[in-house]
Amino acid sequence: MGNSTEQAPAGKGRIFSGIQPTGNLHLGNYLGAIRNWVSLQNDFESIYCVVDLHAITVHQDPLQLQKSTREVAACLIAAGISTDQSILFNQSCVPQHAELAWIFNCVTRLGWLNRMTQFKEKAGKNRENASVGLYAYPTLMAADILCYRATHVPVGEDQKQHLELTRDIAQAFNSIYGRDVFPLPNPQIFGTATRVMSLRDGAAKMSKSDVSDNSRINMTDDADLILQKIRKAKTDSDALPSEVVALSSRPEAANLVGIYAALADCSTENVLAEFGGRGFGEFKPMLADLAVARLSPIGDEMRRLLKNPGDIDAVLAKGADRATAIARPLLAQVHDVIGFLGKSTDH
Ligand code: TRP
Repeated sequence: MGNSTEQAPAGKGRIFSGIQPTGNLHLGNYLGAIRNWVSLQNDFESIYCVVDLHAITVHQDPLQLQKSTREVAACLIAAGISTDQSILFNQSCVPQHAELAWIFNCVTRLGWLNRMTQFKEKAGKNRENASVGLYAYPTLMAADILCYRATHVPVGEDQKQHLELTRDIAQAFNSIYGRDVFPLPNPQIFGTATRVMSLRDGAAKMSKSDVSDNSRINMTDDADLILQKIRKAKTDSDALPSEVVALSSRPEAANLVGIYAALADCSTENVLAEFGGRGFGEFKPMLADLAVARLSPIGDEMRRLLKNPGDIDAVLAKGADRATAIARPLLAQVHDVIGFLGKSTDH
């Protein structure tokens, strides 16, 4: 086995990204991640993963986990992920992720994990009671990425620290074993324009866990519900400004303008050039029409796909086979480098 790192096809980098199957997908997931995944497919060899192993770092109801896994897959397909072009699968079907994560647990230092801000946030005050899995979450994420020697990883700002850790782990492994097994992946942080905030509070992120369903637009909301939620969205009483700077002190207005710009694929400046000086009474119906036009075809297609869960399972299984074909030889090489005896050549 050589020292060379198998790379993605000539000229193209390889993307890996993951999304958790926990709860409803909403506009924030779509504009913040999914839409970008769709557009990256043409420029990269893309591998997209529904990370069910990550989901169980906090308890999940088994039936709900199954349902959410299919929903996320259906949403990705409905939004335009091509399962011929890209690889789409759920993480637990490719055991090499968990295996590589264990190996990474043995090169990762406690001190590195102790610095992870997401663990601190998620574990909260009751840290002693958090699962070991939640603590080791970032080493599994590193394994997800490095199992495929991905070169680029599209993630939101909140995952940047985990990606830096992934680079540290790759580097540590390479240097401990004196072999150049893993390339250092590059983050592709999405712009701030796609950060979607709650419709009830411009200072809070749109979130699946917000108690108010009116705070978010779910990908499965029908046209009536989308219209209603936008009509009720919190605003101030002033007209929209003509200048972008004037939005900085108006979080709710900034959020709605940002959503409009993202859905219309234009800049905030363009939106204000059109709507500056006009009130929300005029702007909201236009935003609602645009949101319905962009989102309801995705919701409709999701519902259609979910009528045949067996078909979704088959698509994911095929994706898992393609993923395994890449991950298995990589693990064989890792076994060899570490010095594990046995089935290293046909791992
Ligand atoms: N931690 C990511 C999130 O919560 C999900 C994820 C898991 C991921 N594995 C990944 C993202 C690998 C990018 C690459 O958003």
